[in-house]
Amino acid sequence: MTNQDYTRTITDIKGPKGIPLFGNLFQIEREQIHLYYEKWAKEFGDFFFVNFLGKKILISSNPQNNANILKNRPTKFRRLSKMAEIIEEVGFYGVFTAESEEWIKHRKVTQQALSNKNVKSFFPQIVKVAERLDNFWESNLIDEVTKYQISNDFTRATVDVTTNLAFGYDMNTVENHENEIQDHIAKIFPKVNERVNSPLPIWRYIKSSSDKGLDQSMDALKITIGEFIKKAENNLEKDPSLKENPSNFIEALIASQDKENPFTWDEIFGNIYTMLLAGEDTTANSLSWLTYFIASDNELQNKVYNEIKEVLGEKEQITTFEEVARFKYLSAVLKEVLRLKPVSPSLYFQANEDVVVGDLLIPKDTFVLTQLRVGALSDDNFENAAEFIPERWLSAKETTGGCPFTGKHKAEVAMPFGGGPRFCPGKFLSETEMILFAVTLFKKFELTLSVPKEDIKEKFAFTMSPENLAVNLKKRKQVSISNLTKEKVSI
Ligand code: HEM
Repeated sequence: MTNQDYTRTITDIKGPKGIPLFGNLFQIEREQIHLYYEKWAKEFGDFFFVNFLGKKILISSNPQNNANILKNRPTKFRRLSKMAEIIEEVGFYGVFTAESEEWIKHRKVTQQALSNKNVKSFFPQIVKVAERLDNFWESNLIDEVTKYQISNDFTRATVDVTTNLAFGYDMNTVENHENEIQDHIAKIFPKVNERVNSPLPIWRYIKSSSDKGLDQSMDALKITIGEFIKKAENNLEKDPSLKENPSNFIEALIASQDKENPFTWDEIFGNIYTMLLAGEDTTANSLSWLTYFIASDNELQNKVYNEIKEVLGEKEQITTFEEVARFKYLSAVLKEVLRLKPVSPSLYFQANEDVVVGDLLIPKDTFVLTQLRVGALSDDNFENAAEFIPERWLSAKETTGGCPFTGKHKAEVAMPFGGGPRFCPGKFLSETEMILFAVTLFKKFELTLSVPKEDIKEKFAFTMSPENLAVNLKKRKQVSISNLTKEKVSI
């Protein structure tokens, strides 16, 4: 029992009225579940309960309370055990699901692989993937294309970055479309989301066609990952010094075999799946949201394009890591995208012990869902919070004519990468990728939306993506980036 002060217990907490037995089950649409939670947060405040078939989930929407929950891991809170169990059942036994001492071991090797130092030395590979994107668009798209599904290209590019960085394996899915690894990956998050939000584990007794599809995709991924592992084992055999200084994530996992407390094969596979999945959907969806905002606002698009011209000058592409930091406006645009469209608006936890959060005593084992975007959309924290205003992220010296934007700005409230010790270790990598791919896209094309903006909806399937996003692309008059940078960027 905790000795902190509290004024409320869970018997004081209300929530939307449901129907007997089913609770709120039929009041929500699963793919928009986060929007229901956000709507109810306005009505019921910082804490409220939802009830699915008698199972109660405590929703926490206050940013300070959420930060507190995120910070107190892995001690007072853990990831929701039901979610971890479902993810592990699929095969993902790794850093995302591990807890306590086990998590520390998994986190160390993951964090090392994604460290700023590693991302910086890996930078030429990200440039290479950006070049391939440019090449692909140059060769396959005519001057004007309508209704283009740009999200698929982002997915391929992010898969290539992760497999190169973490596994030392160049899949080149950007150019090589017959490798359908991303199609298999695409099946996983929606299925996990469906199972986490399903009141009964029906799939353990009767498999639907999508359950069977998931099994087939996991089998296909296992074969691909087997190739990554074989390559890493060969490298370690050829150069035993890599056992002490592994050159990537997969080598580090395998090298642990010869050490104390090694990773099991389930853990090695699980961490590889985790890295692949965590690095792909999140970054690709954020790039899709970025495209959504830029394609729907001409003035914004011009500002982004002008900055690209200003930073690159005569050059056709970013070639040094230092140049990434010079995209101040584009970085501010990205921060605003992540504030308004965080791809993980909800995170699922469970109390390890009785714990006080804010003024509420939360009993051990309570399911707690932090609804992160509520704070980011509140006028208490951001001036005109509902509006897309990248300037709010710029300091006076970064804008011409002084900061055009004043008013409330509690940056710490927007938590698109989570918080506390389990904060996303891929933040730096994804930010670097997003700048490079965005510069490649917006330098090459003028974009407009192919569908009315209001028809593009938020779809939540563990991550949140823009449903129906399609764009019209018009090539700008310029020379292909790849032709000009081949000499300068040699890998
Ligand atoms: C825009 C891109 C991304 C977003 C918005 C994002 C967001 C998140 C969030 C919200 C979490 C949960 C954090 C928490 O529990 O506090 C997370 C965890 C994680 N992310 Fe990311 N992520 C992104 C990109 C990446 C990339 C590129 C990688 C790796 C290649 C990655 C690897 C991970 C891992 C391994 C975890 C689990 C960390 C742990 O449990 O200790 N993420 N991410």
